[in-house]
Amino acid sequence: MTIAQGPSARTISTDPDWWRQAGVYQIYPRSFTDADGDGLGDIAGITSRVPYLASLHIDAVWLSPFYPSPLADGGYDVADYRNVDHRLGTLADFDALVDALHASGIRMIIDIVPNHSSHLHPWFQEALAAAPGSAARERYIFRDGVGPGAAQPPSAWGSNFGGPAWTRVPDGQWYLHLFAKEQPDFNWDNREIQEDFLTTLRFWSDRGVDGFRVDVANSLVKDLSEPFRASIDRVLGGDLPIDGSDPLYDRDDVHAVFERWREVLNEYDPPRSAVAEAWVPRERRLLYARPTELGQAFNFDLLLAGWNPREFHDVITSNLNDAAATGASSTWVLSNHDVVRHATRYGLPGGADHNAWLLGSDAAILEDREIGLRRARAATLLVLALPGSAYLYQGEELGLSEVAELDDHVLQDPTWERTGHQEKGRDGCRVPLPWTRGGESFGFGPDGSHLPQPDWFGELSVEAQDGVYGSTLELYRAALRARAQLKSNEELDWQGRDTEGILHFSRPGGWHCVTNFSPEPVDLPAGVVVVCSGPLQKGLLPTDTTAWMLQ
Ligand code: NOJ
Repeated sequence: MTIAQGPSARTISTDPDWWRQAGVYQIYPRSFTDADGDGLGDIAGITSRVPYLASLHIDAVWLSPFYPSPLADGGYDVADYRNVDHRLGTLADFDALVDALHASGIRMIIDIVPNHSSHLHPWFQEALAAAPGSAARERYIFRDGVGPGAAQPPSAWGSNFGGPAWTRVPDGQWYLHLFAKEQPDFNWDNREIQEDFLTTLRFWSDRGVDGFRVDVANSLVKDLSEPFRASIDRVLGGDLPIDGSDPLYDRDDVHAVFERWREVLNEYDPPRSAVAEAWVPRERRLLYARPTELGQAFNFDLLLAGWNPREFHDVITSNLNDAAATGASSTWVLSNHDVVRHATRYGLPGGADHNAWLLGSDAAILEDREIGLRRARAATLLVLALPGSAYLYQGEELGLSEVAELDDHVLQDPTWERTGHQEKGRDGCRVPLPWTRGGESFGFGPDGSHLPQPDWFGELSVEAQDGVYGSTLELYRAALRARAQLKSNEELDWQGRDTEGILHFSRPGGWHCVTNFSPEPVDLPAGVVVVCSGPLQKGLLPTDTTAWMLQ
């Protein structure tokens, strides 16, 4: 397979604002490419795909955790923040990847996971071996239980993955974990923790990393005064108060942490970028994105919106207004490693319960892959025309659907066990990528893949789409390449057709983006079609299709 090359000799731009309108491609490393044949993707595998990444015309890669980890939560349980999991490679492999990306004009953003470590982190092991009240326990959140024999957890707080947020240790104390029990929460009142994360930011920045994606940025600072107050159980998509009054999530004091981080990130030239993962109400999200803090925060509104012009219009205007008010830049996300892929979401009936569909527990919920892919392509092209950064998730450029047919016994997501098999979890969007039409693990690696790939992956493989006019892969390449010309400023002007089921806006330089959400084909504005998410019908824009026009 020959991968079309990106523009030769791309260099890293010197623009300190490169991140404001970037096309960022998320790599979930254990499912990207396996070079050494252990069934797990690795760093050398990613390096071998740098020509492919360059051919996508992306500005940056965001690499999900690659640190040493017992994999209780796909690597978001970190045992050593300043190293590489030996199954994925070495620090030298990491350096080689950064060099190869930079040589191709691609920046590197890495995930940092400050809310919790792995239970195998040396500090947690030390805490377990130490006595209640010791300095080692102070790095985490240990408390005595309540009730007879202190046998009840200190509070009724629930974990985001189901089940209680407290686990008991042999000497009777309990520790807090907002996620799996293998992910003990750090105590962010502890100076050593605060300082250690600054060391980690510098460690990776010194190695040439260009930015950081901050995991559950909204949960570091907690109100642990007793008696413990009730908190919402699950932060992902949860309904948090907008005044910062929840004891666990989105407290005002967390911003002092990120102001300090910004000082460190600004020690570098260019300053290192950062983006907060913070499932908080929209009006609170912009606080994390202030220029004095992280600069950007993920906007997950489109993950929750239906395929509907009103919802898209409202999400776009409100987020652009927020960004303008704070000096941040907007972000756009349609898929990531935590949600059902957008090609599937748009192919399910509106409002369908995704978990019920994954479980197969509601036979009435059926996926229409054709409609789903058509809408996914249209949505992507719309999002790529917007000011701000687009965060793309590996495999969406192939039009991959969610893999719903994973057998129970192969599931890895801790949600499956922690909910007593009530929620299937996120493995369906984490199945290793298909690179070739057939062969061993569709080209993912020489010896199998850690999650089974379905037969239909072959026809969506890179090999099947590379150079094929009209394929989803070529659509992404064309759009990301053309998008470079949209970045002269961050303005957007609505052209006022949204009441008819059509969204139409213009960008600087005579660019127009038109999406037809209505069931009938519609006229296009005057101009030349530069990129289109599907074929025109007799010169008209068909249903569920987006076109970019140049006037
Ligand atoms: C958010 C990450 O995106 C998710 O994958 C992870 O499980 C949780 N944070 C906990 O780290």
